[in-house]
Amino acid sequence: MGRDVIIACDFSSKEEVIGFLSKFKDEKPFVKIGMELFYAAGPEIVREIKAMGHKIFLDLKLHDIPNTVMKAMNVLSRLDVDMCNLHAAGTIAMMEAAIKGLTREDGTRPILIAVTQLTSTSEERMNEELLINKPIDEVVMHYAMNAKKAGLDGVVCSPLEAAKVHDICGSDFVTVTPGVRFSDGDIGDQVRVTTPAKAREIGSDYIVVGRPITQANDPVAAYRRCVAEFVG
Ligand code: C5P
Repeated sequence: MGRDVIIACDFSSKEEVIGFLSKFKDEKPFVKIGMELFYAAGPEIVREIKAMGHKIFLDLKLHDIPNTVMKAMNVLSRLDVDMCNLHAAGTIAMMEAAIKGLTREDGTRPILIAVTQLTSTSEERMNEELLINKPIDEVVMHYAMNAKKAGLDGVVCSPLEAAKVHDICGSDFVTVTPGVRFSDGDIGDQVRVTTPAKAREIGSDYIVVGRPITQANDPVAAYRRCVAEFVG
């Protein structure tokens, strides 16, 4: 699996995202479409961005009973996305059903990755509200192993966790990592951040970068800087 930069297109309308992507003439970045844009603009936005030549990570984080997830994944697979995700908390049975739903007749399927524990969940909340009485790092690694057992391709994690995930789940188990900032950039609301170069050193396979590119004065230059630092 090659390293790549994925731009988090956190826009709320079709016009904004198409306007943003139209700035890219010489390259076709891998883009992440999240719930906000998908719920606002619908599956058509996926088809349109795909037709512009971009790869798409559809970040909808599915979590439901196995049969429902299987059927929903089947629809996403036919949308021809390149990567999608689910919550590992849905159990191994749900993750296996997701793979079944995603796999096309010719045996191909989008890359499927799992969310372990959301970074917004603190260890204290997890222990006290969710009654998961373990250290959060242990829970994250256990969920990553469950994802691997179910046949998934990898997990979303902090760049700081990527090396450990690779140690435990194998070097070919994909790590997709947000929380990336340039060394001279604004960190915004992210707490634990790394630079693209550091993420490369730690072994992230894909970095997800939003505002450092989308809010830059020159987004194409910021994207190129990210690729140069991360992919080389
Ligand atoms: O703008 P920024 O680079 O912070 O965007 C990061 C993207 O990654 C956003 O779409 C955010 O929702 C997502 N994300 C994250 N942290 C996680 C999981 C996803 O920042 N733990």
